[in-house]
Amino acid sequence: MSKIGATPRGGLHRLALSDEDREARDLLVKWLKETKLAVTIDEMGNIFGKKPGKGKDLAPVLSGSHLDSQPNGGRFDGTLGVIGTLEVLRTLQENDVATERPVVIVNWTNEEGSRFAPALMGSGVWAGKLNRDWIYGRTDIHERRFEEELKRIRYKAKVPAKKWPVHAYYEYHIEQGPVLERIGKRIGIPKGIVCVHWYDVYLEGTANQVGPSPMEGRNDALCSAAEMILKVNDLPGKMGGDMVATVGEIQNHPNSRNIIPGRVHFTVDIRSWDDALAVRAWEDLETELKAISDRRGCPIKIEETWRIKHTAFNERLIRRILKIADRLEYPSHCMLSGAGHDACYMAQVAPTAMIFVPSIGGRSHVEVEKTKWEDCVAGANVLLHSILESALEK
Ligand code: GLV
Ligand code: MN
Ligand code: MN
Repeated sequence: MSKIGATPRGGLHRLALSDEDREARDLLVKWLKETKLAVTIDEMGNIFGKKPGKGKDLAPVLSGSHLDSQPNGGRFDGTLGVIGTLEVLRTLQENDVATERPVVIVNWTNEEGSRFAPALMGSGVWAGKLNRDWIYGRTDIHERRFEEELKRIRYKAKVPAKKWPVHAYYEYHIEQGPVLERIGKRIGIPKGIVCVHWYDVYLEGTANQVGPSPMEGRNDALCSAAEMILKVNDLPGKMGGDMVATVGEIQNHPNSRNIIPGRVHFTVDIRSWDDALAVRAWEDLETELKAISDRRGCPIKIEETWRIKHTAFNERLIRRILKIADRLEYPSHCMLSGAGHDACYMAQVAPTAMIFVPSIGGRSHVEVEKTKWEDCVAGANVLLHSILESALEK
């Protein structure tokens, strides 16, 4: 799967709704059909593959993740959870294991939110927490609409992206941080995920020829952004708690060495377990940004793009995963997730839990992202038994 969108340095560039995303989806659908699963694609391009259970009317167990990646990202983020679930389903089929409940694999559309913001689009619409038409109208930096791109890659189907009852949702994922490796544990069991708040900031400056324009009286949009970005970086230290705050994306216009920057766009990402603290942090930051904008004469426009509250996972499923890890003799650790996942929206509509495996060097969203194969196997075994226990429940 990771050959599709592979980068020369061992990473993955498979942005949501790109040609690479289409190719990865086509391969997944082929594998699902070969595994004799009933495939459904919905109007958000979410892909489901179902293995029936004995009890036809029982709510299924759902498991999966996403196949889209960050720009020059890694091969494990998302893909591990999809391929891990496929391996579980193949194992059940090959061993003629019948379950009470159906087991369904899912590949959610645009988990990353890097090309089209916000993130978790497929699961968010499916769970009824994001508005489909608003999502359809979202554009990338080249002004291409989400809906048109979904059509272009032939994954806009007719089936409504509308939740149905789910008995349990599992998402198997790499940790994407340093904790498990540092403490020498193989399985991470998150009790939840921090809140994620996204903002888009647009600044207007006055573009001009750099040479003849004196330094006094300039309205340099990029200098304004530079000051603002440092305010974002200072925010967690100022607010305390477990907060992190990041500017990860910036566009400078017209981006020429001899033109004073006339227009800048940048993003702000604020995360914390404490939702109220994150809101207070933003209020504080917004005041600071407006003051910089006034002082430098660069009018500011702010879009509150996305807010998702912190997620608490299902305690019963957490205990189950813990017990399974013990039984399989994998050292495990309960922790928090600093990364967002489709499990955030799923937890709002169904009992949900996640299984983490260590990230080498704590690196993720980068080309060197890697997890030892023994750890991938361990996580998949925990996923298998978790899915099986839930699917055997009447
Ligand atoms: C998802 O990849 C995130 O931004 O945490
Ligand atoms: Mn992911
Ligand atoms: Mn990611």
